[in-house]
Amino acid sequence: MFLRNYWYVAASGHEIGQRPLGRIILGEPVVLYRLADGTPVALEDRCAHRHLPLSMGKLVDDTLQCHYHGLRYDKTGVCVRIPGQDTIPRSARVKSYPVVERYRWLWIWMGDPALADPDKITDYHWLDDPSWGAKSQYLHVKGNWQLIVDNLLDLTHLAFVHDTTIGNSALVDQAQVKVKRSEDGVTVTRWIIDAPAPPTFVKAGGFASNVDRWQIINFTPPAFLRLDVGATPTGTGAPEGRRVGGIGMWNLNAITPETERTSHYFWGQAHNFDVGNPRTTDMLIEQIRTAFLEDVAVFEAQQRNLELIPNPRQTDINADAGVIQARRILDRLHQEEGAAAAAKMVAAE
Ligand code: FES
Ligand SMILES: [Fe+2]
Repeated sequence: MFLRNYWYVAASGHEIGQRPLGRIILGEPVVLYRLADGTPVALEDRCAHRHLPLSMGKLVDDTLQCHYHGLRYDKTGVCVRIPGQDTIPRSARVKSYPVVERYRWLWIWMGDPALADPDKITDYHWLDDPSWGAKSQYLHVKGNWQLIVDNLLDLTHLAFVHDTTIGNSALVDQAQVKVKRSEDGVTVTRWIIDAPAPPTFVKAGGFASNVDRWQIINFTPPAFLRLDVGATPTGTGAPEGRRVGGIGMWNLNAITPETERTSHYFWGQAHNFDVGNPRTTDMLIEQIRTAFLEDVAVFEAQQRNLELIPNPRQTDINADAGVIQARRILDRLHQEEGAAAAAKMVAAE
């Protein structure tokens, strides 16, 4: 089951053009394209006639023409032309979805369109804020979305999954970790005080001595994880909020369920040093991509096991504190959305 009344990332802005793109989102086939003036459109990717994906068709004068028998749909999903006949049945229409382009991503609303308020889009401004260098990427994962959320809420895995890339054992052994839950989010704060900077930080920040290093994970439902990470020279006051003389980055993750078993994983990295230099951005993206591919191998192996025996017993450990809080919030939101949908159905009867 998916939470529907949320904005999800459907695509990177550059993926969408005059050529229709088909993508399954929350188990529904969706076709994405742009009108001639650049306006993005999202429709159900299934012709009302004989169910061919409309993404196999093409745009003709801002209408989407089905590849099979040529029915044409406008941007609202209404059929406006049937070859060889004058009357168009009212049933000749497909669903349309609200979309908004923001932070170089295309956001889609899969729930009740009446509730689609663009102000509720989660903040990812670092991706197009000129005071940060940033870039985003896409990974397809053969695993349930929750596996990715769990992974990003517990960074102790860096010491094991990423021991040859971005991890070191100080993250587990020397860290002070605090988990804070609010009404609609979880923050996991980890400080590593007076420890050597990892090699990537030394390269980026030129640190000659020990650093105070932070990882602050912010989880916002259903599957948004924004990680504030960085370091400053030890003793300069970063834990008290004075971040001077160091480096800061945001690792930005937005996971969109494709099906129960597969996910769209949009992620990006922003940095506040060497901002105007795209080579620095590319270098960071490349390093993190290498690490994320190590994670994807973990998710896909977990998924294979989960499909052999669904809902097996599992053991929790201390490091799961953030994961458990996030799951509680998600359970509550599922119940609330389910109850609201049921009430709406009763009212309609
Ligand atoms: S299936 Fe689309 S026009 Fe026939
Ligand atoms: Fe990881």
